[in-house]
Amino acid sequence: MKTVFYSATTLDGYIADENDSLDWLFVQDQDEGGPLNYGDFIKDVGAICMGATTYQWILDHNARTGEAWAYEQPSWVFTHREFAPQEGVTFTADDVKDVHAEMATAAGGKDVWVVGGGDLAGQFADAGLLDELILYIAPVTLGAGRPLFPRRRDLVLLELAQNKAFACARYSVGPARA
Ligand SMILES: NC(=O)c1ccc[n+]([C@@H]2O[C@H](COP(=O)([O-])OP(=O)(O)OC[C@H]3O[C@@H](n4cnc5c(N)ncnc54)[C@H](OP(=O)(O)O)[C@@H]3O)[C@@H](O)[C@H]2O)c1
Repeated sequence: MKTVFYSATTLDGYIADENDSLDWLFVQDQDEGGPLNYGDFIKDVGAICMGATTYQWILDHNARTGEAWAYEQPSWVFTHREFAPQEGVTFTADDVKDVHAEMATAAGGKDVWVVGGGDLAGQFADAGLLDELILYIAPVTLGAGRPLFPRRRDLVLLELAQNKAFACARYSVGPARA
């Protein structure tokens, strides 16, 4: 079982622009069966979590497009806000260590996916609970936006490949500097 932050990012380290838009991402060309692809990744995921802004983005997106909640896995949303109850989703402001233990149990040996944002992934890393980053790096810079991983950490590059427009990289998260 691994805990993984799997995300797309701009080359300059933003996962969304300042208005939480992903329009820079959806125009990029990719092969859905290519290296480190989402379909293969999600098959091994048994529980997911995200921050409130990401959850709100999904709610807004689904309201606009008519799409349904995409995740079969039990999901946790870190928030202090009041959201309408949703089946399969637990809203929490508990310590990431406690929530991670719940997620690991629910995942039943499969992986835990930290969807984002970057600071939430950083909180898992701070607690020593983040194993890997898998990044789809889009050939675009934004200059500002929601940060990918606002921490100072050393990573180890485990895998590197091209998927059409994207540089795809898998890193292990080393221990925090003393
Ligand atoms: N490029 C990609 O693949 C990708 C992936 C994921 C997300 N995104 C996008 O990137 C943006 C991410 O936004 P973001 O960086 O602001 O982060 P976020 O993690 O989605 O949301 C941040 C919010 O989560 C809540 N939160 C975080 N840690 C918490 C904790 N320990 N306990 C309780 N609540 C906690 C807080 O909300 P409260 O206000 O409730 O306190 C905080 O303001 C979104 O637009 C999302 O759609 C892109």
